[in-house]
Amino acid sequence: MRIAIASRKGGVGKSSITASIASLLASDGYDVLAIDLDPQSNLAFMLGVDPTAPGTAALLDGENPEPIEVNERLYVLPGGADLARQDIARLDPEDLADALEDFDYDFILFDNPPGNQHLERLAIVAADKALVVTNAHPMAILGAERVLSDLEARYQKKRKGPSSWAIVMNMIDARRSLDKNIEDMFEDVEDVPKFKVRQDTKISMASAQGYELSEFAPHCNAARDLRKIKEWCVGEED
Ligand SMILES: Nc1ncnc2c1ncn2[C@@H]1O[C@H](COP(=O)(O)OP(=O)(O)OP(=O)(O)O)[C@@H](O)[C@H]1O
Ligand SMILES: [Mg+2]
Repeated sequence: MRIAIASRKGGVGKSSITASIASLLASDGYDVLAIDLDPQSNLAFMLGVDPTAPGTAALLDGENPEPIEVNERLYVLPGGADLARQDIARLDPEDLADALEDFDYDFILFDNPPGNQHLERLAIVAADKALVVTNAHPMAILGAERVLSDLEARYQKKRKGPSSWAIVMNMIDARRSLDKNIEDMFEDVEDVPKFKVRQDTKISMASAQGYELSEFAPHCNAARDLRKIKEWCVGEED
């Protein structure tokens, strides 16, 4: 199962959610590879391994970069500045899917960069499912709506890519009025599961120190919320 984590807006929690879901899946006993498509290369850092090692760009160059071990079941291909190269921008949207053909993991998760539709498309085309992440900020919601309509359009046209997707409303604090009403923003989006992840400083603390959330704070609010998303990732409802 291959899952793309996307939002057009920056800073809504894509990398945190990718890192946490990847680590929850690994602690369930699945073999997991997390692929970072972001030139910022935050994902490996968040998981406590070298973010500057050869990774996704090398894979797209046709090399065989060694995924970096986070633990026995969880591996990462770091992002990096090379992903911003012009020749990467000219790749065919199916090139990442092709490069992963022989990869043998139970789950491959793709962490997408903000605002780079070309890199995002490489992941979307390679994915079976997608998590569309937003917070309650109107600009983030707009970005999520754009991803949702792209996913729907691809699916309608029978293009390669996810056949199911879910909305993740992240950093939710019910005391804030925008957050309280965030579900209303997606009331027209039918038949798409919607998950909330509460605002929780444990997420920031874990990622800043390179710890997996499932080990650092397995019972915190965010970890509880993320487990429901992990169940959806595992589910075979479609
Ligand atoms: N549920 C949450 N509660 C509290 N803090 C959070 C939560 N989710 C993410 N954060 C924090 O918000 C910040 C941005 O998160 P993250 O880097 O995962 O976002 P992103 O969407 O990947 O950003 P970018 O678009 O730059 O790649 C980080 O400091 C992270 O620790
Ligand atoms: Mg990120």
